[in-house]
Amino acid sequence: MVRTSALLLLALPLAASALETPLSRRAQRHQSEDLFGAQLALDMQMMQEAGYNISEALGASDELERLQKTLQKRAATTGFNYGGSSKVRGVNLGGWLVSEPFIKPSLFLGVHKRDSRIVDEYTFCRYHPDGRAAARAALMQHWASWMTEADIKAIAAAGLNHVRIPIGYWALGVVPANEYYISGALYYLKLAVLWAGRANLRVLIDLHGAPGSQNGFDNSGRQGPIEWHTSADNVARTKKLLLALVAEFQQSKYTNIVTAIQPLNEPAGFVDGVLPVAKQYYLDSYKIVRFGGTSKANKLLFNIHDVFVGLSYWTGFMAKATSYSNVMSDTHIYTMFDDVQIKYTDAQRIQKYCSYSSDVSALSAGGKRPIVGEWTAASTDCSGKIPGITYKSTDTVKGLGGGARYDGTAIGATYKVGSCTGKTGSGANFSSAYKASLRKFYEVQTTVYERGSGWIMWTWKMESGDDWSYQAGLKYGWIPKNPTEKKYGNQC
Ligand SMILES: *[C@@H]1O[C@H](CO)[C@@H](O)[C@H](O)[C@H]1NC(C)=O
Ligand SMILES: *[C@@H]1O[C@H](CO)[C@@H](O)[C@H](O)[C@H]1NC(C)=O
Repeated sequence: MVRTSALLLLALPLAASALETPLSRRAQRHQSEDLFGAQLALDMQMMQEAGYNISEALGASDELERLQKTLQKRAATTGFNYGGSSKVRGVNLGGWLVSEPFIKPSLFLGVHKRDSRIVDEYTFCRYHPDGRAAARAALMQHWASWMTEADIKAIAAAGLNHVRIPIGYWALGVVPANEYYISGALYYLKLAVLWAGRANLRVLIDLHGAPGSQNGFDNSGRQGPIEWHTSADNVARTKKLLLALVAEFQQSKYTNIVTAIQPLNEPAGFVDGVLPVAKQYYLDSYKIVRFGGTSKANKLLFNIHDVFVGLSYWTGFMAKATSYSNVMSDTHIYTMFDDVQIKYTDAQRIQKYCSYSSDVSALSAGGKRPIVGEWTAASTDCSGKIPGITYKSTDTVKGLGGGARYDGTAIGATYKVGSCTGKTGSGANFSSAYKASLRKFYEVQTTVYERGSGWIMWTWKMESGDDWSYQAGLKYGWIPKNPTEKKYGNQC
């Protein structure tokens, strides 16, 4: 998204009434029943007032409707067969509509140095030292530049067929003032879906942050307290916002583009009380995602994360084919976020990835379409160390990014596996032995996860942690241009 020229900005006041009328009329029409439409209209107004060129977004719905004819023709011959012969191969658009310090440190570093409380999107909005308008402008600039249509085209050119797009609840409707978040990301969700449609990519939309935070990770928007499940109001609000999302994307103009919705990312099943609330939420949100407030089922897949209790736990859940259709399961596999796995040798790490075969195969047989919706070729958590910040295991407050277990700089670390030098940062500095390891980890995981319904890697691009970046993997060769190419054969 380019900013409009100064000339057009000067012309704006003259054209203002002509430009504003359709927006406010749209907002009025949508106000009562269409939360998504109303929020999108507000986002468009905000973008326009800030001088962004909104013509592509204004025309998006019409273009999507035209595009559908082509997509439907194509789908008739090469439709995506989830759970069957087609394999999901994709990347997450991480750190975009929900920002994350380790993915894009430059968004946070300067303000964090001025106010160390700023460690996530929530604190960014709350404590920005230059105020709320500055936080908003910085977020708009970030949304407009971190992912563009060129990224979507490059993803399609890499032989991938899906993107997973994380979005926070605060993008979906008016946020109470005491929750501080700044909305606006819906505008780019709509554009991303259009770009994906043009590139023949499918989209899984994932609610990555819920009111109260469902996991306390910075990637839920807010690091710290886990309060989603302790408040019935939080859960009720989540369902209401989810319905707004579904009501939009179940429309026929999105068919063959938006194929799946995940009602909640990574509820913290490792915390007492979360699992039962998440299970009930899944039962309730099934109806929301599959029916979208109508009496007729739509085409969307209902994609549920395993709540960190493992895929096999869910084998019998929603298993009745007569009562539940289009259910898809999601697990996230990382082998660097615990004290045992961070120390693995390459051979142990490969063995660990191979061990997931039985789970994905069992769920596949049960018709649950298991995907691994997050995983990485990286083998360390070194990218949690943001260049320019010093971390110590004796720190009492988790800082921006969090440091690394690998080199003993994470809070409370009692050991060091090795130095982070050459493990993250620019892929140009990775040794050929290290790149060979990354390639083996990429290949073994894609092999195993395709024994289920496929995979979506975390994440498409990184600002400075290339070991986590699909784009950098392609550039430096540890990810093949054809995602099915296996240099190392069948590793398990
Ligand atoms: C605004 O964007 C549209 C395409 O999305 C483009 O055709 C038009 O030239 C742009 N206008 C300006 C002033 O950049
Ligand atoms: C990585 O390589 C670049 C040049 O390719 C160099 O400028 C930079 O200092 C290197 N970084 C590290 C951490 O070695």
